[in-house]
Amino acid sequence: MTATVPADLASFLDVHDARIQRELDAFLRIPSVSARSEHDADTRRAADWLAAECTRIGLTTEIIPTAGHPIVLAEWRGAPGKPTVLVYGHYDVQPAEPLELWTSPPFEPQVRDGKLYARGSVDDKGQLYLHVKALEAHLAVRGALPVNVILLAEGEEEVGSEHLAPFVEQHAKRLACDACVISDSAMFAPGLPSLLFALRGLAYFQIDIDGPAQDLHSGSYGGAVINPAMALARILATFHDADGRVAVPGFYDNVKTWEDRVRDRIRALPFSDEHFRAEVGAPALGGEKGFSTLERIWTRPTCEVNGLLSGYTGEGAKTVLPAKAMAKVSCRLVPDQTPAEIEQLMQAHVERIAPKGVNVKVTHLHGGNPWRGEPEGPFFHAAANALEAAFGKAPVLTGEGGSIPVVGDFQRILGVPVILMGFGLPGENAHAPDEWISVGNFTTGMRAVAAFWDEAGRLSS
Ligand code: BES
Ligand code: MN
Ligand code: MN
Repeated sequence: MTATVPADLASFLDVHDARIQRELDAFLRIPSVSARSEHDADTRRAADWLAAECTRIGLTTEIIPTAGHPIVLAEWRGAPGKPTVLVYGHYDVQPAEPLELWTSPPFEPQVRDGKLYARGSVDDKGQLYLHVKALEAHLAVRGALPVNVILLAEGEEEVGSEHLAPFVEQHAKRLACDACVISDSAMFAPGLPSLLFALRGLAYFQIDIDGPAQDLHSGSYGGAVINPAMALARILATFHDADGRVAVPGFYDNVKTWEDRVRDRIRALPFSDEHFRAEVGAPALGGEKGFSTLERIWTRPTCEVNGLLSGYTGEGAKTVLPAKAMAKVSCRLVPDQTPAEIEQLMQAHVERIAPKGVNVKVTHLHGGNPWRGEPEGPFFHAAANALEAAFGKAPVLTGEGGSIPVVGDFQRILGVPVILMGFGLPGENAHAPDEWISVGNFTTGMRAVAAFWDEAGRLSS
């Protein structure tokens, strides 16, 4: 077991630290917002930039087009007889709006108080780039990697990874490996590294309510015409019962209860509801009765409204009966729910209870399967050793409420364990204004990953 990060690699990363920070700055300046077609050229530029950097450090790199944004595939296969590890990350980012809430502009990275602020700093360009730099350290210092490596970076994670699973299916032979490693999540607390055993899945859809052909005077027509905003509110109000459970018939049919040992492990983590409440800034916490906060986020499914639109929302008052109402709704899923099953249940429920006098349409947006992994096996231990070497503390096992759709696909198609070692932190503002990555976690993360390659090199394939 390594007690510390190998000195040759650590010293390379020390010596080159300023250059590495400059490169990360350049990567973060590219607004690779996958959801926005006006950023298609920028997203492409981010793929090109990443590919050029992978080539420069000594990987054999290809930019593979998809029907959406391209996949960057970079390989090093110079360790015959050694294991092959696939590293996954995403170079696309979420839209940065609302821009006025950023302290510094989202695509002009700025370090304040040990935090690097920029869209994509933690999700996921910073975490992806620290992998590139760990590989560079090995190749530059030793001229080789201890294992074979496939680095796969996609540009569509933030829009549902639609073209990735088909790509993995199609190229399963080329992507054959012994384990996958992903850094696209957070540590449980500062100084406390984490390895994940669960991610929730996602079923995302939109509800559109159509009433009268156009907006109406709410005095001349109100009371005699069904109001789409009220119809939508009534539908949404049926989604939960008073105990915070999802009240849609069949919703929990395939939900597995988690083993007591996992629930005990979750309860043993250092966590304070009050601290969490203060961090999110809400007056009180709430959720499904009978479960702790962490259990609610990691082990239980949800149904949330993500956006609402209807009627007049400008300054002052306007007496209007809106013609339309719209809600974006997503359910977080846990094993063994599937996005198709849940979306179908939700759609049937919405159509069944829709008030007469309006038309209701449910449209699929995207989805992803939930994932649970066994936190054991040689690669898992290699990762735990590497994290301990770099952070000076053994990792804790945690779940995550968020989704990385491809994780379940890797496990299913490639049949290998997926190691999720993230270097974000609570409060990192992913998807929100003022997203940041801890500069310390970025640099320690590079060292942890560099140590991981040595650990993996000791395993047989
Ligand atoms: N990196 C996140 C996933 C994540 C979130 C991991 C929170 C750990 C904690 C990823 O980029 C993401 O945002 N996923 C989306 C799903 C996607 C289909 C849009 C999500 O979870 O909303
Ligand atoms: Mn991400
Ligand atoms: Mn994200």
